[in-house]
Amino acid sequence: MTGLRVEGVYKVFGRRPNEAVKRLRDGAGREDVRPWGTAAVIDADLDIASGETFVVMGLSGSGKSTLIRMLNGLLKPTAGRVLLGDDDLGAVSASQLRSIRQRKVSMVFQHFALLPHRTVRDNAAYPLALQGVDKAERRQKADEALEMVGLGQWGDSLPHELSGGMRQRVGLARALAADTDILLMDEAFSALDPLIRREMQDQLLELQQTLGKTIVFITHDLNEAMYLGDRIAVMRDGRVVQVGTSEQILSAPADDYVAQFVADVDRTRVLTASSVMRRPAAVAFAGGGPRLALRTMRDAQVAAAYVVDRSRVLRGIVRDADAVAATRAGQETLEGLIDDSLTSVSVDTPLAEVFAPAAESPLPVPVTDDKGRLAGVIPRAILLEAMVPADTSTPPKGTPTADQAAVPAATDTDPADAPGTPADATTAAPSAGRATDQEVRA
Ligand SMILES: Nc1ncnc2c1ncn2[C@@H]1O[C@H](COP(=O)(O)OP(=O)(O)OP(=O)(O)O)[C@@H](O)[C@H]1O
Ligand SMILES: [Mg+2]
Repeated sequence: MTGLRVEGVYKVFGRRPNEAVKRLRDGAGREDVRPWGTAAVIDADLDIASGETFVVMGLSGSGKSTLIRMLNGLLKPTAGRVLLGDDDLGAVSASQLRSIRQRKVSMVFQHFALLPHRTVRDNAAYPLALQGVDKAERRQKADEALEMVGLGQWGDSLPHELSGGMRQRVGLARALAADTDILLMDEAFSALDPLIRREMQDQLLELQQTLGKTIVFITHDLNEAMYLGDRIAVMRDGRVVQVGTSEQILSAPADDYVAQFVADVDRTRVLTASSVMRRPAAVAFAGGGPRLALRTMRDAQVAAAYVVDRSRVLRGIVRDADAVAATRAGQETLEGLIDDSLTSVSVDTPLAEVFAPAAESPLPVPVTDDKGRLAGVIPRAILLEAMVPADTSTPPKGTPTADQAAVPAATDTDPADAPGTPADATTAAPSAGRATDQEVRA
C-alpha cells in the first residue's frame, strides 16, 4: 500500500507565482501577494499514512481542491514536493506520471462524471480500458466493483436510469474497479440528499475496513469529516492550520477559526468514552476482602467500589453496607458480595451511547478496554460537561450556564431525569460511607 507526503508545497495561480512564493516564505499572507497571483495553497506539510482515511476540510476557497489536484499530479506545485509512496510526482517523466495516475490514484468527483451513453458497467470499467486491460477482465472487475457498492444488478443500465445516489455509487465503483491504492474524493457525497449521503458514508467505512485504501476525502461538512476521518486537516486561506484526530481537534482547536468550525458538531458522536473518562475513586481487588474494600471506600469517601480481579478485569461493584455485613460475619473475601449488574461501556463507545447506561447507573459508568479491564469511569457531570464546546466550557462567573451545568436535572435531555435514578453514589452519599467506617473500626 502507498502513503502520501506533501512537503512544503505551494500553489500560486497567476502571472508571477515564484515571486509570490518568495514573499509568502518571508511571511506575507494571501492578500499581500495578490499582485503576483492567487496563493491557493501555502506551505502545506502532510504525511498521510498508507491505509489512512484523511479528511481535508475548510471554507470555500481555502485551497482544498487545489491541494487534492496536486496529489494526483493534475496540478504541479509552484514549490515543494508531493511524494506518492516513493515517487516524487515533480521529478518523474510525463509518461511515468500518466502511468502513476492510472495505476495508483483514482479520483471520485462531486458530480459523478459518468459517460451518459455508456452502460453502468462500461462506466465502471472505464479506467481499466485506459490501463489497456482486456475486455473480459474489464467486465469481471467492473462487475465485482459494482457488486461491492450494491449495484450488481445495474451493469446493463444507462446512467440516466439511476438515481443520484446510485450514480455516485457508480463513481465509487469506477474508482474501486481501477484497484488503485489511493482514492481521492473531492466533495464526493456533497450533492446527495442527507439520508443517501449517510448511507454512502457508511458504505465507504464498510468498504474501507476490508480494502484498507489510502483515502483523501474533502468535505465542507464537519460531521462527515469527523465520521469518516482517521485524521482531519483544517485549511484556512491556503494554509493547513491544524491536523489531528477529530477528538484532538474538538478538545484542543488550534485557533478561533477551528474552534468556530467545530462549534456545531455533534460532539457526542465524535468523542468517545476514553476521551472523557476519569480515574475511578475507589477500586477494590476481588481477592482483597471486605475490610480492605471498606477502607478504600472510606479513603475515597464513597459508598461503593468497583471490583477488579488480579488482571484488572472488571468484576462488578461492592457496596459499603454489604461489605460491613460481611466483615461482621467474618467473611474474608468479596465472593458473593459483587454486584455485576452494572452496565459498562468500551473505551471506543461514542458518548451518545453512554447516556442510557449513565441514566440507569447509580455509579459513574465503568469503561473497559478490549480485554475487559477497568480503564476508567464516566461520572454523569463529566458526560454533560463534555457536550459543551471547548471554547465555551468556562463561561464567565455568575452566568446561568454555570448553574445549569451544576444542576443537570434542569435540562430536558438530562439522563438524571430517568425515574428511579438515585444521585451519584460515589459523590453524593458520604454520610453512608462514614457511618460504615465507624462500624468497621468499632
Ligand atoms: N485554476 C485556477 N486559476 C486561478 N485561481 C484558482 C484556480 N483554481 C483555484 N483557484 C483559486 O484558488 C483558491 C483556492 O481554490 P480551491 O478550489 O482550491 O478551494 P476549495 O477549498 O476547494 O473551495 P471549494 O470549497 O469552494 O471547492 C481560490 O481563491 C480559487 O479562486
Ligand atoms: Mg473545492
